[in-house]
Amino acid sequence: MNMLSEKPNYNDDIVKLFTIASVFWGVVGFLVGVFIALQMAFPALNFGEYLTFGRLRPLHTSAVIFAFGGNVLFATSYYSVQRTCRTRLWGDGWSKFTFWGYQFFIVIAALGYVTGVTQGKEYAEPEWYADLWLTFVWVAYLVVFLMTLKNRREPHIYVANWFFLAFIVTVAVLHLVNNISIPTSLLGAKSYPLWGGVQAAMIQWWYGHNAVGFFLTAGFLGIMYYFVPKRAGRPVYSYRLSILHFWSLIFMYIWAGPHHLHYTALPDWAQTLGMTFSIMLWMPSWGGMINGMMTLSGAWHKLREDPVLRFMIISLAFYGMSTFEGPLMSIKEVNALSHYTDWTIGHVHSGALGWVAFISFGAIYHLVPKLWGKKELYSLKLVNTHLWVSTIGIVLYIAAMWVSGIMQGVMWRTYDSMGFLEYSFVETVMAMHPFYLIRALGGILFLTGALIMVYNLIKTVRGDTVPASSLKSEEAAHA
Ligand code: HEM
Ligand code: HEM
Repeated sequence: MNMLSEKPNYNDDIVKLFTIASVFWGVVGFLVGVFIALQMAFPALNFGEYLTFGRLRPLHTSAVIFAFGGNVLFATSYYSVQRTCRTRLWGDGWSKFTFWGYQFFIVIAALGYVTGVTQGKEYAEPEWYADLWLTFVWVAYLVVFLMTLKNRREPHIYVANWFFLAFIVTVAVLHLVNNISIPTSLLGAKSYPLWGGVQAAMIQWWYGHNAVGFFLTAGFLGIMYYFVPKRAGRPVYSYRLSILHFWSLIFMYIWAGPHHLHYTALPDWAQTLGMTFSIMLWMPSWGGMINGMMTLSGAWHKLREDPVLRFMIISLAFYGMSTFEGPLMSIKEVNALSHYTDWTIGHVHSGALGWVAFISFGAIYHLVPKLWGKKELYSLKLVNTHLWVSTIGIVLYIAAMWVSGIMQGVMWRTYDSMGFLEYSFVETVMAMHPFYLIRALGGILFLTGALIMVYNLIKTVRGDTVPASSLKSEEAAHA
């Protein structure tokens, strides 16, 4: 038999495990997000030392980025690398180790946060023992991915795999360099970083910004390059543009970290360099967005029929929006207003909810029926409900943060005719209260959407069918 026409025996069990984990951690992370949003509106909700905002905030950021986002990236990269290379995922035992090893890392990191054992570095909070463990898991991930690429039965390495590989390799480098630290003792949980002062700050934000660039962007672009063409049933709009997109994006991201350290002790030239590269980043980012969106050319009608595709395309619109806003905020004069304010939080969540979570939902909806051998999802109508409930949630969240952030920045810098500050700090906090309520409401809607997804996915896996009484509206959602 012709080797190429033979369907390889793909390892989908591992993809299933990662998909279940991503949905589980997603709900946990969104729930903690809603809780900390409520804590900001109602400080009385800070119960006891373990559940204070300070401890739950890193729990939220790690749960959504590393537990939800990370598991989505494992699931989608393992799924698509097999299809694009027409070969089974290499090393069943190794990939299983990456699953259990990664979940173990999440649990020990989270336990550290609530008990107050952290390095206090944003997005790199876990202490040395968890970092070391993650290094083993990550190396195994790289080996599995590389060996699968090596075994490929396709001459080309499809562009989605380039993005996944850049994500895996760069995250390894970032993780190793930013976490070089010396434990106080072999059995002690505490360690001290090797770097100090402004070098420590620079390395932390080189790491932090590239966690955005390679974890929250390059990896999810890998998802876009595989799942958008698949769902649209069209080849990617321009393969040439995708190559240009890849090289320019990875070259530029790595320099932009200093935009997190404007007006600090960091040398001025370094701040300007970071700003310049951030502004340049707008171009490859939009190149990628256009490539994703234009993949639908000639098939725009599918947007009307398929709410899963709609999730993916709306995510690209949010990607475009946050990668326009980011370069704007990197301009020193703009950053003088936005830094330390809720504007940053609004920017983060337009990227995180609109881009990262929405492209993930799209991929999960596409994957689940395929993995569990079902023809379609239980209900496309519920996918549509999820889409709109969550979109309204995002708009409430980010609009509230923009208004609150700009107001906050302006209130801090308003002087009276005598040259005194017009507003005390507590007045700015009070002015933000209504916006914190709106943000919490937006978060509740976003979480509700995710719970609708969980229900729909469970029904799909069980093979349930929509009751006859709801069939009419279901057909309308298909039409
Ligand atoms: C139900 C949905 C969510 C809600 C209600 C929510 C809420 C919050 C809140 C209240 C904060 C703290 C803001 C502050 O310190 O002023 C925060 C921070 C953060 N969240 Fe979320 N979040 C949600 C989903 C997500 C998702 C899906 C992601 C990523 C994929 C994410 C990533 C982050 C990050 C990175 C920060 C830190 C931002 C910074 O330090 O500038 N969030 N979130
Ligand atoms: C061209 C692309 C982008 C550029 C140039 C950019 C630029 C910026 C700037 C200037 C800040 C504020 C730094 C500060 O004042 O401290 C920021 C914060 C942030 N951005 Fe972006 N951004 C981009 C895209 C994105 C995307 C797509 C996401 C999410 C998926 C994202 C996530 C974040 C996060 C999490 C922070 C907060 C970091 C922190 O202080 O904890 N960014 N970004």
